[in-house]
Amino acid sequence: MTAPARVIGYQHAFSALCDRRLVQSMYGECDVLLERVLLTLHGEAHTARRAIEWKLFRRNFARYYESEVYPRTLSQTLAPYLQQGHLDLPEFGFRVNINLSADIAGIDRTQGSQEETDTLVRLTRKFSEGATLFHSTRDRDTVREEVSAALAEFDEAFLTPSKLRRELILKRIESGAAVEDDMPRDILSVLLANRDKQDLDDNMILREVAFFMQAGAHSSANALTHSFHEITQWCQAHPDDAERIKVDDAFLQQCLHESLRLHPASPVAWRKASEAFTLPDGTHVEADDNVLIDLMSANVETAIFGEDAARFNPHRVVADRIPPFGLTFGIGIHTCFGRDIAGGLGQGKDPSQAPHYGTLTNLLKSLLQHHARQDPGNPPVPDAATERRNWGQYRLLIGGAFSAEEARRDRT
Ligand code: HEM
Repeated sequence: MTAPARVIGYQHAFSALCDRRLVQSMYGECDVLLERVLLTLHGEAHTARRAIEWKLFRRNFARYYESEVYPRTLSQTLAPYLQQGHLDLPEFGFRVNINLSADIAGIDRTQGSQEETDTLVRLTRKFSEGATLFHSTRDRDTVREEVSAALAEFDEAFLTPSKLRRELILKRIESGAAVEDDMPRDILSVLLANRDKQDLDDNMILREVAFFMQAGAHSSANALTHSFHEITQWCQAHPDDAERIKVDDAFLQQCLHESLRLHPASPVAWRKASEAFTLPDGTHVEADDNVLIDLMSANVETAIFGEDAARFNPHRVVADRIPPFGLTFGIGIHTCFGRDIAGGLGQGKDPSQAPHYGTLTNLLKSLLQHHARQDPGNPPVPDAATERRNWGQYRLLIGGAFSAEEARRDRT
């Protein structure tokens, strides 16, 4: 492969992500999962799929989810960890968000048991491995086979029963025995209702639902671990902020956004030129040339984020038009559906409405309230299965009293 054209800096990366002549190309390694899912579609097919699915995320969905559903899910998931007194943060982050994923994707959890959640977490983690195959350090054929097996298991155990239930409701709506509001509000329902119009076969529906399962859990789990790490380090050096963070949710959200900026889900986005044209920085590309959009360089550009852009600083002030998390949720054509749910919207323009801080700030808040802290006996371990700079294991102690040793460390 010839070297790709490299798009560097915030404005150029922004323009490239919005340019319809650049086609998504980072996910072709795992067609078994990602062929023609929303993330890899282009042009009219992408616009049509996005239009039907995006409807779910309107009508104040993020606010509703955060205030009505998430607190229950969070406390239920946290309870056993509080009892045992320790947790692994990437695993916990994935587990707590699996419910969000399943609710959005349209996967029923009929048993509601621990084993059922374990299975769903295991399968969805495998889908994540497939979705990030481009950066995997494992043998790619082996991963593809594992993803294929996980899809088959997911289809039988979860998708088929969820599909049957929704198909029955659809039939009842057609016959007038039920109304549209009786249909669950999720991706699977949308796909089933539009399967003829959008030419969606069973395999396509399986891939799209599995893709949403991993999209809702994977990046959030990594973001949670990165932000906890950054916050811990910052608070050790800034004791006043360590107190503030416990009571000031808006400040905690700023910490989260700052960490998201420094740790984009993927440091790069790859695209392929669909025709010959000139990129905003003057580089000419031919049709089929690869283009690498350097999101990391965009997120640490000093002209936008200040001289200390490469460092974590939750007191950073950026211009109104710039999101504090930079391009971490993408922008333009493939902008993340989960941006407002995960990252929150803050106070918003209407002061009479409660501020919306997002699921990740809520998660961090809950961990801090329960005195979550790094386990001194188990230092964090980077994830060796990917080139992305994520944590594979990050052990925390949670709840209970500080040990004498911890108290001493805390004071120093
Ligand atoms: C911290 C959490 C998250 C991060 C950092 C993140 C990041 C991203 C990024 C960078 C993209 C665009 C990829 C590209 O342009 O190539 C994307 C797309 C997407 N994300 Fe997220 N995401 C997060 C959470 C979520 C959640 C909770 C959902 C749940 C629904 C979600 C659903 C999606 C979907 C459906 C797309 C594809 C949109 C399209 O192709 O039109 N994400 N995400």
